[in-house]
Amino acid sequence: MLIHLSRIQRLYRSDEVETTALHDIELDIAQGEFLAIMGPSGCGKSTLLNILGTIDRPTAGTYRFGDEELTKLNETALARFRRENLGYIFQSFNLIDELTIEENIELALIYRNIPKPERRQRVAQAMDRVGIAHRARHYPSQLSGGQQQRAAIARAIVGEPRLILADEPTGNLDTENGTQVMDILQTLNDEGATIIMVTHSPSHADLARRRVDMLDGQIVISVRNAI
Ligand SMILES: Nc1ncnc2c1ncn2[C@@H]1O[C@H](COP(=O)(O)OP(=O)(O)OP(=O)(O)O)[C@@H](O)[C@H]1O
Ligand SMILES: [Mg+2]
Repeated sequence: MLIHLSRIQRLYRSDEVETTALHDIELDIAQGEFLAIMGPSGCGKSTLLNILGTIDRPTAGTYRFGDEELTKLNETALARFRRENLGYIFQSFNLIDELTIEENIELALIYRNIPKPERRQRVAQAMDRVGIAHRARHYPSQLSGGQQQRAAIARAIVGEPRLILADEPTGNLDTENGTQVMDILQTLNDEGATIIMVTHSPSHADLARRRVDMLDGQIVISVRNAI
C-alpha cells in the first residue's frame, strides 16, 4: 500500500462551535491508483485532500505513506516530504502572477535543488506534455483558463512526484478544457502516477479507477470502475 489512513479525524474548534470535518476515515490507496472523491459541498473532500497532502494535520488518527508515518514528522521533515513526493493541482490554478509560465514550472525544481541545465530540459519536457510550450514566456494572466490549468499540471508533474493531488481540477473549466485535463491525468496514471482527485463531475469520476463517495465527514461508498 502506498497510503494507509487509519481513524483520521479532523475537528475544527472555535469558541462557540465544533465542526467534525472528518470522522474516522479509513482509506488505503495502492501505488498506481486513480481515485476520485465525490460528495456534496461541505462533506470534507478538500479537508481530506489537504490532510493527504500534509498541508493540514488530522486531530486524531494515523497517516502512513510507504514506510513513513507522516503524523509523527515535524514541519521541516514534512516540507521535505512534500517536495520529494507530491504534486498539487487546484481548482483555481494557483500560478504566481509575476512569473512566466516556464518560471512557474521551474520553481518546483529550484526547491528541489536541481541544477539549471537539467531544470531547463525538464521544464521543456513538462510543457510539451501538456501542450503549452508555445506560451512559455507568457504570464498567467495572458493565458486562457484551460492553458493555465495545463501549466499548473506541468508544474505539478515536473518533479516526477509519486502522488498527484487534484482538488476539482476541472471545476473552473468548460467541457472541452475539462476533457483535455482529464486526458492528461489519465495518461499520467497510465504511466504509473498515483492520482487522487476531488470532483463534482460524475463523468470525470467515472474515468478514475476507483471512486469514493463522502457524506458528513465519512466515506460512505467505495466502488471500483470497470476500466
Ligand atoms: N478553517 C475552518 N474552520 C472551521 N470549519 C471549517 C474550516 N475549513 C473547513 N471547515 C468545515 O469543514 C467541513 C468540510 O469542509 P471541506 O472544505 O472539506 O468541504 P468540501 O467537501 O471540500 O466542500 P466543497 O465541495 O464545497 O469544496 C465544512 O463543514 C466546513 O465548514
Ligand atoms: Mg472543497
